[in-house]
Amino acid sequence: MSLYKNLKPAHLTVLDKKEIIDYALGRLSPSPCSFADLGGIWDVDGEYTFHAFENHDVEKAFLVDTDFTDKALAKAEKRPALQIIQDNFGRPEVVEKIGPVDAVFMFDVLLHQVSPDWDRILEMYSRICSCFVIFNQQWTRGDHTVRLLDLGEKEYFANVPHDPEHPNYKGLFDRLDDMHPQHRRRIRDIHNIWQWGISDKDLIAKMEAMGFGLQYYKNCGQFQKLEHFYNHAFVFSKRPAV
Ligand SMILES: C[S@@+](CC[C@H](N)C(=O)[O-])C[C@H]1O[C@@H](n2cnc3c(N)ncnc32)[C@H](O)[C@@H]1O
Repeated sequence: MSLYKNLKPAHLTVLDKKEIIDYALGRLSPSPCSFADLGGIWDVDGEYTFHAFENHDVEKAFLVDTDFTDKALAKAEKRPALQIIQDNFGRPEVVEKIGPVDAVFMFDVLLHQVSPDWDRILEMYSRICSCFVIFNQQWTRGDHTVRLLDLGEKEYFANVPHDPEHPNYKGLFDRLDDMHPQHRRRIRDIHNIWQWGISDKDLIAKMEAMGFGLQYYKNCGQFQKLEHFYNHAFVFSKRPAV
């Protein structure tokens, strides 16, 4: 651990995410491999996609987000095997455009998915990938998954990392049914706010039901100061048909 003593929790998170990429692409996927990094931009400019390119033989990859940065686009230009998709990855057209890949990365995105909800998104991608590489802030207050907005305003803000004055969150409970101009959906359904508290039990059960077995699991510790959210890393792979 001494090697990591000067690293902040956010840096450790980066290492944990790179570790599961290396596990999934290095040990569970063929070489050359293919992957899709869903929601890979905010605050990291596609860092996990480029880590995969630098450390594995990648024949085809997709980086998908609704919002790209110039830095990510400039780096992507140097990777002919990488396709940029600026769109909502919950749209069936996006899944179709990606097509079969070895692995799908979902880092800090699953808890944001509504309409389609997180479990439906997993179903959609289970048809095109053999391996899910997931890092998510998981709900640890009991075994049941909760829609955070259903907790009511006071409890909602006690369980999300943003204060009620943050631009995305200011007056949120008065604006839930307003239309969001960019995403063209009600604000209660946009991915820019915290949406779900997903329990490990429900995530693993969903994966099992789709024929994906848990190959790797790590509790990476409490998420910031939130009592009920912990960073958990998962790798699931499709079981061979019998
Ligand atoms: C919390 S950030 C995580 C960024 C990065 N994956 C990481 O681990 O640091 C969520 C990112 O996913 C994108 N995102 C979330 N849901 C999305 C969706 N349904 N379609 C496209 N992009 C989405 C957001 O725009 C944002 O860039």
